[in-house]
Amino acid sequence: MKIDLILGLQWGDEGKGKIVDVLTSNYDIIARFQGGPNAGHTLEFDGIKHVLHTIPSGIFHDKKLNIIGNGVVIDPIIFKNEIEKLKELNVDLKEKLIISRKAHLILPTHRLIDQASELSKGKKKIGSTLKGIGPTYMDKTGRNGLRVGDLEMDGWNEKFENLISKHLNLINNFNVEIDFDIEELKKEFLSSIDYMNELKFIDSENYFHNSIEKGRKILAEGAQGSLLDIDFGTYPYVTSSNTTSAGACTGLGVPPNKIGDVFGIFKAYTTRVGSGPFPTELFDEIGQRMAKIGNEFGATTGRPRRCGWLDLVSLKHSINVNGVTELIMMKGDVLSGIGKIKICTGYKYQGSVVNHLPFSLSDSSLEPVYEELDGWNKDICKITDYDSLPLNFKNYINYLEEKLKLKIKIISVGPDRKQTIFR
Ligand code: IMP
Repeated sequence: MKIDLILGLQWGDEGKGKIVDVLTSNYDIIARFQGGPNAGHTLEFDGIKHVLHTIPSGIFHDKKLNIIGNGVVIDPIIFKNEIEKLKELNVDLKEKLIISRKAHLILPTHRLIDQASELSKGKKKIGSTLKGIGPTYMDKTGRNGLRVGDLEMDGWNEKFENLISKHLNLINNFNVEIDFDIEELKKEFLSSIDYMNELKFIDSENYFHNSIEKGRKILAEGAQGSLLDIDFGTYPYVTSSNTTSAGACTGLGVPPNKIGDVFGIFKAYTTRVGSGPFPTELFDEIGQRMAKIGNEFGATTGRPRRCGWLDLVSLKHSINVNGVTELIMMKGDVLSGIGKIKICTGYKYQGSVVNHLPFSLSDSSLEPVYEELDGWNKDICKITDYDSLPLNFKNYINYLEEKLKLKIKIISVGPDRKQTIFR
């Protein structure tokens, strides 16, 4: 038995939450392996929209186990809110959610450092969600972090206080004005810890090893997207974890030879929230139309997303780095009614055309090269089988499959579970 992965191939917000939810019935366990509450996974069913930040997207299914892996960073305060919302829906979390002892905790002061760091960068800010993600991973690699398992050990409070003091000094050094009441923040954090303590903590690497041996089917759910990967994304405009498939190995404790299918998920166009280069970004009415019809607003921050054409250069980069075996295309319906659809197939870069991702996408000489296909007019939101899709939509799919040399196995034509076409 092997673990399957589902990963975003662009700058996040590809619609992983919906697809994990749709695929969950094929699996026993759904696991998150990186990121934290910077993620916002949106699921829609029975006319209601649910947004998850830390909790895996299998939580709404009966008899499925959801695991938060060691690679995730957890903010107990946001986590508490998420738990309370799920309790209102009568979701039995004690039975369905377990947490790795090795996952790191986001302290309130991590959030403040994020804020201070962004303020100090001025125009060069990353556009962080300000959830304390970067500073928490800094403490993890700097070997100062506080982990979930520490909560079961004597003296964790002292560790907590020491880390808070260290952070307060750091914040002072940024020389920027931020308002906070440290005692209030500490109080809120400590009361949220009580909620976390109601859940079961595990040594997750051991748990996964045993689950694989027993033949339990596991799906690992990525957060953010490959172009936000700390190593292979558009650095420094990235998040602070490995969002690519290797991150699933280190974020769960699963060896590479236990990885099975890698489902790569992408939108029929491209979006990005936050700062950083975006070669195919549109500043015209087509971009605005994508944003409006696609409801392109961040699920975590509510910020409007930047929109643009599909970029096959970056998509191929993500497919290669992740070892994608099957593709899933989201939001094809958003392109309905656009006369001509452009697809970026290369970049003009330093005097020649390249079709790999150069070291810096911010280079001023970089310019996308496009091919153009005819669009389709028909509304496809209610179509449930591939054959009934408009010819030009199918031409778009065939074109992409040929260029990317992979099959697009699932096509999503709307936010609801039911608006999903399997091939
Ligand atoms: P951070 O990880 O919150 O510090 O944000 C770093 C960059 O990643 C910013 O550009 C964010 O907008 C972006 N980012 C973080 N999480 C997500 C996500 O779930 N979807 C899309 N963009 C994200």
